[in-house]
Amino acid sequence: MKTIIEPFKIKSVEPIKFTTVEEREETLRKGFYNLFLIPAEDVLIDLLTDSGTAAMSADQWAGMMRGDESYAGARSFYRFEQKVREITGFRHIIPTHQGRAAERILFSIVGGKGKYVPNNSHFDTTRANVEFSGAEAVDFPTAEGMDPDVVADFKGNMDLEALEEFIRRVGPDSIPLCMVTVTNNSGGGQPVSMQNIRETKEICRRYSIPLFLDACRFAENAAFIKKREKAYASQPVKEIVREMFSCADGATMSAKKDAIVNMGGFLALNDDALALQARNLLIMTEGFPTYGGLAGRDLEAIAQGLDEVLDEHYLQYRLRSVEYLGERLTAAGVPILQPPGGHAIYLNAKKFLPHVPVTDYPGQSLVVELYRRGGIRSVEIGSVMFGKTDSAGQFVPARMELVRLAIPRRVYTQSHIDYVIEVVVDCFEHRSLMRGYRIVEEPPMLRHFTARFAPVA
Ligand SMILES: Cc1ncc(COP(=O)(O)O)c(C=O)c1O
Repeated sequence: MKTIIEPFKIKSVEPIKFTTVEEREETLRKGFYNLFLIPAEDVLIDLLTDSGTAAMSADQWAGMMRGDESYAGARSFYRFEQKVREITGFRHIIPTHQGRAAERILFSIVGGKGKYVPNNSHFDTTRANVEFSGAEAVDFPTAEGMDPDVVADFKGNMDLEALEEFIRRVGPDSIPLCMVTVTNNSGGGQPVSMQNIRETKEICRRYSIPLFLDACRFAENAAFIKKREKAYASQPVKEIVREMFSCADGATMSAKKDAIVNMGGFLALNDDALALQARNLLIMTEGFPTYGGLAGRDLEAIAQGLDEVLDEHYLQYRLRSVEYLGERLTAAGVPILQPPGGHAIYLNAKKFLPHVPVTDYPGQSLVVELYRRGGIRSVEIGSVMFGKTDSAGQFVPARMELVRLAIPRRVYTQSHIDYVIEVVVDCFEHRSLMRGYRIVEEPPMLRHFTARFAPVA
């Protein structure tokens, strides 16, 4: 059969609230045109993020009831540890309350002034944690990875030549570790090939630099490898995953993505001395090493989710449902970052709204209009998130002006996605009416979360 169906039946449902355009306009005004500042209840289809928004399975909920809430040595921890070790092969498995807690612990140990951390593309919390330690976060995406229109199999790859040239220039002693983010969230949810992971490892090995994976979407990445890298076409995804992790010395993970849970994360690594330091920090800020900021029931749900995410029917449905959204939008002429990624479609706001200058944040304009017209919540990944004002007071725009439609795991059906397509196409047909926004208030860091906007007059 050609139709790839949702590989689950729905046992428990949650109503969604229908609102009018007038009600949504009022909500937007009250939320200062920042979709992070509006009540989720007033959103019809919430594509703000795929992080922590998944629907758990019956087995995960059953696991929640089995959760052992002992402070130390809980049975749930051992189940979690065994599952993470089975998948990653790492010696030390350290639970954290989410991905950024693993990043904070890791970089407060290995970071610091005068250090550099290379990555194919840092996610914003990873960058913030590297830079908060005093180190510098440096990205090495490939040229094709930076071109939103190029259709290529592995646009998440690391630029290997640029990486090696950088290591030689700054010296390996100033690089405590190198990271590869799978899939590459900031670069459009694009996958990294096994060959690129292997070659990155080879460069790191030559200079004795440990390699860490930012493994949030490891299963989606592995499914892309199976689909697009010939040598892996008939290999089980589970084995591909194992090979990916075998190239690395450690990983940070936000379980809120490919462990299909609402909260959790971990740091996993082989280095005994580093693990000891990490556990000491963990006790200070997250909790005892057998729970690390999580309840026993959360550890159970993660262990079960890590099993379910490797189901090949699930992964096929997951990649196909995102691809379907991308295909339909492309057919309607809507400019999107090509090809569709693993967890999201990224609308190219610069092309969508060529009449809105980057100084007026075309991405924000599109985010507001998707909500106003259809109650859809999305997120700007452009100059609101990454734009800067330089020391001369000049506006420095982001590399791309994108709007991300992130698809929560197992939450929406194909008819929800068909509705999303209709709303985006409707916005596209009325794009000439849309105007820009200006920022009227912003915090010093990570401004997209709380900045206040007003429409440009
Ligand atoms: C690639 C990547 N790394 C790290 C994180 C941070 O994870 P968390 O939100 O669990 O702190 C995210 C979250 O979106 C991510 O996409």
